[in-house]
This record gives sequence, C-alpha cells and structure tokens, in this order.
Amino acid sequence: MNNTLPTSIVIFGASGDLTQRKLVPSLFNLFRKGRMPKKFRIVGSGNTAFSEDQFHARLADGMKQFASFKYSEEEWKNFASNLTYQQGRYTDLADFKKLGGILDKWDGGTGNRIYYMATPPDIFPNIIDLLGLSGQLRENGGWRRVVIEKPFGIDLASAQSLNAQIHKTLTENQIYRIDHYLGKETVQNILVTRFANTIFEPLWNRNYIDHVEITVAEQVGVEHRAGYYDTIGVVRDMLQNHLLQLVSLVAMEPPSSFEASALRNEKVKVLSSIQPVKQENILNNTVLAQYKGYRAEEGVKADSTTPTYAALRLQIDNWRWQGVPFYLRSGKQLAQKLSQITIEFKEPPHLLFPTAQGRITPNMLVLYLQPDEGIHWRFEAKVPDTAADMRSVDMEFHYADSFGKTAIPESYERLLLDALAGDASLFTRADEVETAWALIDPIIETWDAQKQPLPEYKSGDWGPAEADKLLSRDGRSWSNWDGRVG
Ligand code: BG6
Repeated sequence: MNNTLPTSIVIFGASGDLTQRKLVPSLFNLFRKGRMPKKFRIVGSGNTAFSEDQFHARLADGMKQFASFKYSEEEWKNFASNLTYQQGRYTDLADFKKLGGILDKWDGGTGNRIYYMATPPDIFPNIIDLLGLSGQLRENGGWRRVVIEKPFGIDLASAQSLNAQIHKTLTENQIYRIDHYLGKETVQNILVTRFANTIFEPLWNRNYIDHVEITVAEQVGVEHRAGYYDTIGVVRDMLQNHLLQLVSLVAMEPPSSFEASALRNEKVKVLSSIQPVKQENILNNTVLAQYKGYRAEEGVKADSTTPTYAALRLQIDNWRWQGVPFYLRSGKQLAQKLSQITIEFKEPPHLLFPTAQGRITPNMLVLYLQPDEGIHWRFEAKVPDTAADMRSVDMEFHYADSFGKTAIPESYERLLLDALAGDASLFTRADEVETAWALIDPIIETWDAQKQPLPEYKSGDWGPAEADKLLSRDGRSWSNWDGRVG
C-alpha cells in the first residue's frame, strides 16, 4: 500500500471528549516525532456548529489540559495548520457526499483515508453505511480504513450484526477495532516478556503456575459519563474487552510471527478455549457489585442495577492451562488506580526449611501495567543472621528507571500509527470480538435475571466481600504485593 499519498484522517465525533483528550494529542505527538505521513489532513466532523476558529481553540485548550508532553506554540501552530472542521449530520447522505467532495478535492479522490468512529456506538452503523453509499470506502489508488472505537456491540447478537453490516461495505483488513489496552506499552510487553526471554516460558504452564490474577482497578467513579456507563456497566465496559484481551496475551501459545493474523489466531484460540461458565455456575463464579452512592450520581437511574465492579473466575480448557484458574476483577471507585497481572507459582514440592504453618509464600511474577509500570519478581530469601528464617523479597524493574519517566507514550499514539501503517496486530478481529461476547453474554443474562439488588462496596475499598470469597473458597486470596492490593 502506498503511504506516500496524501492522507486524510476524518474523525467523526470530533466535538467529543476522546478527540480532545486522546486523539488529537496523540496525532500531534506523532507529528512532533516526524511519524505522520508527509502530506496529511485531519478533518473533524460532527453535529456541532463549530467555526474553524472555535474548533482550533477547543483542541488547543484540550492540549493544555491533557497533553502529557511539553511542546512549543510553534509546533502546535504547524500541526494545527493541518486541522479542519466540517459540520455534518450522521444521518444525512447529502452531508456525507459533501464531505467526500471536500476530501476528493484535496487528495484527487485517490488519497489514503482513515475514518475514525469516535461517536457514541449506536451511530457507527449509520456512518459506515453512509460512507459506503457516498462512495468513500472504495479503494481507488489509496487505501480506505475505518477505525471503530469500543464498545463493539453490547452483546453477541449486536456485535454479529454490526460485523455483518460493516462487512457489506468493508473487507476485514480495512477494519481496525480499537481496544486501547493493546496500545499500552506494558500490555505489548507481555509478549516480549514471554517470547523474547527464555527464562519464563518453560515455567508458563500448569506444572508451575498455581493461578493467574488480573486486576484493573480504578479510583474514579463514572464521572461525566453516566449516560453511557449506566447502560453498559463494568462487564461490557472492561471485562469483555480489556480484561479478556489481557487473558489472551497471558495465555496464548507463541505465535509463529508478530504478524496480525498469526497473533490474532492465537488470541482467538485462547478465547475459544475458555470454558463457558455454565448457567448454573455463573453466580458461583462471578461477583457483580455497585459502589455505594453510584445511584445518586448525576445521570444514573435511581434504581440502577448497573454493576461498577466485577470479579470472575475462568478456566481455560487446554493442555497448558488445565486446572489453573484465572481470576479477573475490575471496578470503579476502588482503593487505587492499578492494573496488574499476577502470576502466582506453585509452592515447592518439598519443604526443606521449617516454616510457621508448614507453608511457604509462593513466588510471584507481577506485571504492573499501570501506573508504576514495571515487573516485579517475588521470591524467598534467607534472613541474615538467622538459622534458616525466610522472607519474601522482590526484584523490581521500573520503566521510569530504565527508560526515563516520560518514555511511555499515550496508547492511542501507537494504535493510530499502526492504523496508518496498515498493521492490525493490535486491533481486534471480527471473530475475536464475537468469541469474547459469547463468553460474556450468559453472565450478563444471568445477572440481569436476578431480581435482587447488587451487593454494594464502599468507595475506596477493594470491592465487595463476595469477591474475596470467590478466591477463599479455592484456598486463595487476591494478591497482596507490598500491601498495595488485597
Ligand atoms: C475505557 C472505559 O475503555 O477504559 C473506561 O470505557 C475506563 O470506563 C478506561 O475508565 C480505563 O482506561 P485506562 O487506560 O485509564 O486504564
């Protein structure tokens, strides 16, 4: 594909939060690093009647609030000269034809184009239809790609119908379904840790690993997103996508290459090996809860049963993972913002050393995804000047120490760069998204059928007591690393 052609990035939903907070700062940083195509234009599109000046002012203001890097006014001015705004309705073919005409005029109709869906999800199908009907998705010299934000559907049926619908106008390799967790350096580093080192992989299986725990905890509540969140909840917002993506990266077999289809085939294999939680076991293997005060948040229904916390026990039915539970949890208004994957190893088969309960603290490998990105290894060491007392110590790698405090870019930078380069490795494929929904649907249905209110947890806690029971029943507990979690 020709990447020297003029490239347009059209953002639908340009007046929204994502554009201001993430997309424009990321594109600007790519520009500063000299990674944008030589000739490019970013066209914001939306219902709002912005003048060019208002649009620029809004984005400049967003940069001041949200950019995680320093820049000069001159850099911004240079970048902003490529930014324009085009008001348009998402339901009007005439407006789409007008947009197409403007782009054709700029790139001669043969340029490369990315259409980015940053609107509320119920509008995606309409936009894609109208892009197709206005002839903008036909590749005629340059490539045409569509980037689709999450959530991709709200259940299996809607994801299937969205896939069927977009496949009418686009081939799968023109579609880039975003899961911003895959843009995180630390998430990509799961694969490097596993497959660029020889020391981990021999241990990475049921013979040595007792269980895996994935925590994605947030301190914030619903903030200003209640309108969206209250209809979606944590299972659809976090588990179906971010957490299952993490499971697939931790559990996958080594792909033959880092090429998109090889990688995604392995991820789909993991998702399809996850034992569907049987209807009658769902309530035993999942915990949903709501933070106290959620129903009083602005925009949340007074009788809302939307969960803001979920914990889940999964089994992967294959040779590598048989009998190794994966415990997942995610929630809002928890004790701290923390995303981590804990690989807890089995205890040694025979204890040489006397210990208090005849047990020893198991080794742990903790992949800290955020905020203090790094990897910690916990192992036992002899306490000096004792006969044979032991204590857990840890070996720590922190990105900030090894690569500098500002080394980690915003996850959207990498994803936008890959979409421009035509590399779909870090985007979810149609079958992947559907397999994930197939796992999640029965959980949502079963909980929806419950007539009781959800358990509540205090904001600032680590979730409801029921979530602790999910592990204590198995003789385990959520990992307690340096007292940070637990
Ligand atoms: C988004 C969810 O996908 O991820 C949000 O919609 C959540 O509800 C966010 O807050 C968390 O992302 P991060 O990168 O801050 O962990």
